Amino acid sequence: MPVALITGITGQDGSYLAEFLLGCGYQVIGMVRRSSTVTFERIKHIQDEITIVQGDLHDQSSLVDLMETYHPDEVYNLAAQSFVPTSFSQPVLTGEVTALGVTRILEAIRLANPQARFYQASTSEIFGKVREVPQCETTPFYPRSPYGVAKVYGHLITVNYRESHDLYAVSGILFNHESPRRGLEFVTRKITHAVARIKHGLAKEIHLGNLDARRDWGYAGDYVRAMWMMLQQEQPSDFVVGTGVTHSVRDFCDLAFSYAGLDYHDFLVQDERFFRPAEVDLLVANSSKAQQQLKWQPEVNFEGLIEMMVDADMRMVEKEIE
Ligand code: NAP
Ligand code: GDD
Repeated sequence: MPVALITGITGQDGSYLAEFLLGCGYQVIGMVRRSSTVTFERIKHIQDEITIVQGDLHDQSSLVDLMETYHPDEVYNLAAQSFVPTSFSQPVLTGEVTALGVTRILEAIRLANPQARFYQASTSEIFGKVREVPQCETTPFYPRSPYGVAKVYGHLITVNYRESHDLYAVSGILFNHESPRRGLEFVTRKITHAVARIKHGLAKEIHLGNLDARRDWGYAGDYVRAMWMMLQQEQPSDFVVGTGVTHSVRDFCDLAFSYAGLDYHDFLVQDERFFRPAEVDLLVANSSKAQQQLKWQPEVNFEGLIEMMVDADMRMVEKEIE
C-alpha cells in the first residue's frame, strides 16, 4: 500500500486530495498543527480512514520525525498561509510558513526520506502583474503580494532541490480552484454564502472590493487529480493547471445571484476595505502541457461550479435555520 503524507489536510485541497488518494488505495497520513479547537470540519467524514499526526511547517524537527516514522512515498505540501490580504498584514508569518516552510519540508525529505516524491502547491499568483496572456510554465514571475513573493520562493526552492539534490520534486502552478469547502473569506464562497443568506432573509447586502479582477476559476476536486498525476510521471517537471477561461468577480456575482433568482445590483455594496494595496488584474491559464503530458482535463465548468457552490450554501443555511 503506497503511503502519502499531506500537509494542510484540514484545508480545502487537503480534504479533496485525501479522499482521492484513499480511493486510489493509499495509506494517507495527514499532518495537522496543534490548535485549541478542532479544525477537522472538512475531513470529519474520512477521519477514521486517515492517520492524523501533529506537525508544523514552522518546526523542522516535527517534519523530520514524520519522514523517519512513516517514510511516505509521496509528500504533498499543501499547507500555507494562503489568504492574500492576510499576507499584507502578516508578511513575516507568511514568509515563514509559505516560503521557508517549503525549505523545511524539503530538508526533512533530503535528510530522512530522499526517495519520496514531493509536490509543492505553487500558484498562478506568482504571475501577478502578468507578462503574457495566457500564462504558461515559462511566463516570467511578477508577484503582487507578500503571499505571491513567498510562493515564488517556494516554487524556486523546489526546482532547486530537484536540480541540486536529485529529488523527485515538482511545483504545480494551479490557478484558482473553488468548491463548497472553500474558506468563507475567499471571494467565490463569500458570494455564494451571501446569496444563500440573502435568499433566506438572513442578510441584506454583500460588501465586496474590486469587481473587475479576472480569474481562471476551476473546481478543486478536478485539481487534486492533477497533483497526483504530476507525481506519477517518469521525470519530475512543473505544470500549469487551469481551465483556460477567465471571468471577472462581477461575472461570478451576476451568475451566482441570478441562479438564485436575485439581481446582484440590489444587494452589492462596494467597500474600500476589500481592495488590495496591489492587485492581480487578470489570470488565465495555458494548460496545454498538462493536457498533453498528464492527459488532465477539468470536468466542472464555471457555471457548474457556481451552481454547485450556491446549492451547497443553500442547504447549509436551510439546516442552520431549521
Ligand atoms: P487552505 O484551505 O487555506 O488550507 C491551508 C492549510 O494549511 C490548512 O490545512 C492549514 O491548517 C494549513 N496550515 C497553515 N499554516 C500551517 C502551518 N504553519 N503548519 C502546518 N499547516 C499549516 O488552502 P487551500 O485552498 O486548500 O490551498 C492549498 C494549497 O494550495 C495552499 O498552499 C495554497 O496556497 C495553494 N494554492 C491554492 C489555490 C486555490 O485556488 N485554492 C491555488 C493555487 C495554490 P489549519 O486548518 O490549521 O488552518
Ligand atoms: N477575498 C476577497 N474578498 N476578494 C475580493 C473581494 C472580497 O470581498 N472583492 C473583490 N475581490 C477580488 C480580489 O481583489 C481578487 O482580485 C479576487 O477577488 C480573488 O480573490 P480571492 O478569492 O481572495 O483569491 P485570490 O485570487 O486572491 O487568491 C486565491 O487564488 C490563488 C491562485 O491564483 C487563493 O486561493 C490563493 O491561495 C491562490 O494561490
